[in-house]
Amino acid sequence: MPVLYDFLIAIVAFLAFELVSSNCGVSTTWESKTIFESNQDILVCSHIKNKYSHSSCEKELQPPAVSMTTSLALVPFDESRVLPHEKTVREFKLAGHLFTIKQDWNTLGVAAVVWDSAVVLAEFLVKNEALVKGKNVLELGAGTGLTGMVAATLGANVTVTEREEAISHLRATIDLNSADKSWEISAAKLDWTHPEDHSNFPTPDVIIGADVIYIEETFQDLLRTILSLAKSNRTQILLSCKIRYDRDLHFLSLLQNHFQINEVFYDTHRDIKIFSVVRSS
Ligand SMILES: C[S@@+](CC[C@H](N)C(=O)[O-])C[C@H]1O[C@@H](n2cnc3c(N)ncnc32)[C@H](O)[C@@H]1O
Ligand SMILES: *[C@@H]1O[C@H](CO)[C@@H](O)[C@H](O)[C@H]1NC(C)=O
Ligand SMILES: *[C@@H]1O[C@H](CO)[C@@H](O)[C@H](O)[C@H]1NC(C)=O
Repeated sequence: MPVLYDFLIAIVAFLAFELVSSNCGVSTTWESKTIFESNQDILVCSHIKNKYSHSSCEKELQPPAVSMTTSLALVPFDESRVLPHEKTVREFKLAGHLFTIKQDWNTLGVAAVVWDSAVVLAEFLVKNEALVKGKNVLELGAGTGLTGMVAATLGANVTVTEREEAISHLRATIDLNSADKSWEISAAKLDWTHPEDHSNFPTPDVIIGADVIYIEETFQDLLRTILSLAKSNRTQILLSCKIRYDRDLHFLSLLQNHFQINEVFYDTHRDIKIFSVVRSS
């Protein structure tokens, strides 16, 4: 019986790893979903059914440092092994500052946790600060606003945007990190599905978006939003995400009708790409 248990744990660990590898794509086979939903120990997909989460539970859940096979069997709960999205507080050292982010996955879902794409894009901006320094930057689907806050730290005038429901958490996160900074950053509602929101924003120099290509139903709205904000080739758009599934490529092909797309960075470890997108028509 213990052998069978270990075997099951090994299968779940393997599936977990597979799911960990999924980011912007988020699709997975329904078989593995079923196993996850029925597994109380790992509890990866049980939170998904709230209005923010869509099917994103599978995303970016990082494997614990120690082998899951043994750790789960021997130590059912250990704070250090809580999955990143379930941590209530995370800290990131970027651009010489410590950013503290309170996460609230259970109530707010995907908008209230930091995704790897946000960290990769923030690191990219730190290495290429001329892209944002002194510029008007607008962040789409900012979530906790980590990338926008890093851009503001680098000297950009930043507007982080989100859906209505995510705004108060986003503002609270900015306030929490404002103490030691004199920066220009504000949060505003910009829902891709509400075209009337789009005209509230002046044309930015730079639009950033981390992990925003993730729900197929929003692709047309997201495209319309980007088109209405980036009216000419003077706005540069930087999108970070993991392209794994056909539907993500589908979004890039939609973009390609109006924009020129260049891959400018690839984080091989986290398998996340950054695309620079500029209007071509
Ligand atoms: C996967 S999260 C990424 C969050 C953050 N950029 C990060 O990388 O940590 C996707 C974000 O897109 C936002 N989003 C989804 N649909 C949206 C819409 N219609 N309008 C505005 N934001 C939306 C969600 O609220 C969520 O915060
Ligand atoms: C910063 O951006 C906001 C929003 O676009 C704008 O209203 C404000 O004038 C800008 N501030 C500076 C100093 O450019
Ligand atoms: C940007 O657009 C303008 C006018 O549409 C055009 O003259 C210019 O060559 C374009 N610049 C680049 C870098 O494509």
